Amino acid sequence: MKIISVVGARPQFVKLAPLSKEIRKNHDEVIVHTGQHFDDKMSDLFFRELEIPEPDYNLGVHGGSHGAQTGKMLFEIEKILNSIQPDAIIVFGDTNTTLAGSLVAAKLQIKSIHIEAGLRSFNRTMPEEINRIVSDHTSDYLFAPTDTAIKNLENEGLSNKSYLTGDIMVDAFKSNIEKAERSSNILSNLDLTENEYSVITLHRPYNVDEPENLKKLFQQLASINDKLVFPVHPRTKKIINDNDISIPKNIITTDPLGYLDFIVLQKRSNKIITDSGGIQKEAYILEKPCITLRPETEWLETIKEGWNILADYNNDEFANIIENFNPTAKQNHVFGDEVAVKMANIINKIV
Ligand code: UD1
Repeated sequence: MKIISVVGARPQFVKLAPLSKEIRKNHDEVIVHTGQHFDDKMSDLFFRELEIPEPDYNLGVHGGSHGAQTGKMLFEIEKILNSIQPDAIIVFGDTNTTLAGSLVAAKLQIKSIHIEAGLRSFNRTMPEEINRIVSDHTSDYLFAPTDTAIKNLENEGLSNKSYLTGDIMVDAFKSNIEKAERSSNILSNLDLTENEYSVITLHRPYNVDEPENLKKLFQQLASINDKLVFPVHPRTKKIINDNDISIPKNIITTDPLGYLDFIVLQKRSNKIITDSGGIQKEAYILEKPCITLRPETEWLETIKEGWNILADYNNDEFANIIENFNPTAKQNHVFGDEVAVKMANIINKIV
């Protein structure tokens, strides 16, 4: 069977890597990269490190408004699907790339599979929430990572096409952590030692698009009694530079890191402070305290098990909350295991 995997943004490359290996055992896979992320450090580096085959197509669509970006992707993906006539298309996560891929497939009546289905923040001001809802309702097969995701799909009447598979990021992590520990020099490059620092990442529009919010957040982070290593996402970097926002002394900034360096950086850290969805999961897998800089999260299991808390930087107690958060609860491994094989088995049956 001919299967098209559509990716475009950094977290999608991580999810594609283990699944692509499994799919290629039985099917022809064509990789379409929309170009949403395009810097070497946000894209090509991930293909090299995770040994993902080169994309068959790169659409070069990036930047612009959400409508313009998604519209260009729709136009380009449709041309490819019409010329290749695949048996199925796979989309990942909740980005504009996901939305475009699933919408074109629905219009052309090509079977589509949505990986990481069923996540809901119940906050429709997030572009990702709209992308998830549309992708879940238009896709033919929904691969859900957690029980919560399955319940969300059930509540929207989508049970008959839902499968509880676990989270594919577990496989990406497990198959790369040993290699990462052997090859990464990230701590010596940054002149750091184990447990001497925490990690912070920020890229959500909610936190970074408004310069005043970002300044306030940095002021709060300055009072944390820990070094913070901050690999800066291009979106965030642009806002910092355009507005001359100064970075507190306890924050060490770096360019975006590759997957191998980043999982090692997380593994050797004290705590992880983030607004990313994928990093909340990696923190849990690594048994690191995770502080999520958002008013809500889709990864409720990590909160319920006590390994993740939501923190608001408008709260005067922000620094204390972070410093005092030291979970020890036993984990129930809520993201599953051997996920790529499970997904591939289902794909073999349905395609
Ligand atoms: C996108 C996803 C978000 C995901 C995130 C992971 C949507 C709506 N958002 O957000 O869900 O969590 O990716 O990183 O799809 N840029 C560069 N170089 C790059 C990539 C981006 O300079 O390699 C710039 C873009 O030109 C743009 C900005 O960063 O100005 C934001 O990029 P965009 O792809 O629109 O959204 P992200 O914030 O990366």
